[in-house]
Amino acid sequence: MAGGFAKTMDSFKYAGKLRPGRLSPTRKVPRSIQLPDYAKDGRPKATGPLLPWQVEVKNAGDIEGMRIAGKVAREVLDVATAMIEPGITTDDIDAVVHEETIKRGAYPSPLNYCGYPKSCCTSINEVICHGIPDSTKLKEGMILNLDVTCYIGGYHGDLSEMILVGEVDDAAKQLVKVTHDCWEAAIAYCKPGAPFKGIGAIIDDHIQPYGYTSCTQFCGHGIGKVFHTTPNILHYRNNEPGKMEVGNVFTIEPMICEGTGRHLEWKDKWTSTTKDGRRSAQFEHTLLITPDGVDVLTPRTANSRPFWWEE
Ligand code: MF3
Ligand code: CO
Ligand code: CO
Repeated sequence: MAGGFAKTMDSFKYAGKLRPGRLSPTRKVPRSIQLPDYAKDGRPKATGPLLPWQVEVKNAGDIEGMRIAGKVAREVLDVATAMIEPGITTDDIDAVVHEETIKRGAYPSPLNYCGYPKSCCTSINEVICHGIPDSTKLKEGMILNLDVTCYIGGYHGDLSEMILVGEVDDAAKQLVKVTHDCWEAAIAYCKPGAPFKGIGAIIDDHIQPYGYTSCTQFCGHGIGKVFHTTPNILHYRNNEPGKMEVGNVFTIEPMICEGTGRHLEWKDKWTSTTKDGRRSAQFEHTLLITPDGVDVLTPRTANSRPFWWEE
């Protein structure tokens, strides 16, 4: 191929150092597991409310189902985060997430969701979200977000956490801690009557002194029988209408970037990195609005991997 690119040559301009690895074969789900409506053809059918300002009010049965889904997703995340260390691959993590999910009678919600090929998302360093587990080996100094969603009894539970791989630099630690703290501040704000738009304002105010930016491309979301539904939860200052009501269930999952919050999508159509190759961090909980305020449906337990500032 004189004077040109070989067909196999990767001419895509990556923002940072990370590159895609190889995918393992598609993982199977036993016939006994209840499938979400997209599992077979990749296309979600149920949408939830069609108008963006309408947010479902869950009944007691829904809430019980959401608690179970949240608890199962938490258990799976805790087992998977415990194994994370330098030298394992993100596909090793996916294998554990998949096994632990089906062991509990649940379906790994990401699998074939809009064609997504794996059972969880593993987002390293400059990857903002939707990193696909593959043959990439974790190396000392990386930061990783593991995002797990489980579907059980007809409901989805969704959460994610950051994990430090071995020793990481102080700048990464600060990014992770500030992301965690802005997320907790946004959760603490939630209660009946609170405008949804206040979430983004709290996050922006919290990160501003550090010079970080909040990614605007991806949102938190309503969740229940449907994986992603109303409301859209924007993690940056905004003027969206709507107030929280008792029985609303949604995620808060800010993606905070060291540099630019603009994103670049890989050719796999999923992996989203920062445009400048600098790092990004994220945490996620599924939340229920109660008469008293907010209930975390994916809370940490004694089995959760300790955060470095708790060790
Ligand atoms: N769990 C992610 C979220 O927080 C969604 C992953 S969808 C996938 O909403 F298809 F990328 F897996
Ligand atoms: Co989510
Ligand atoms: Co998630």
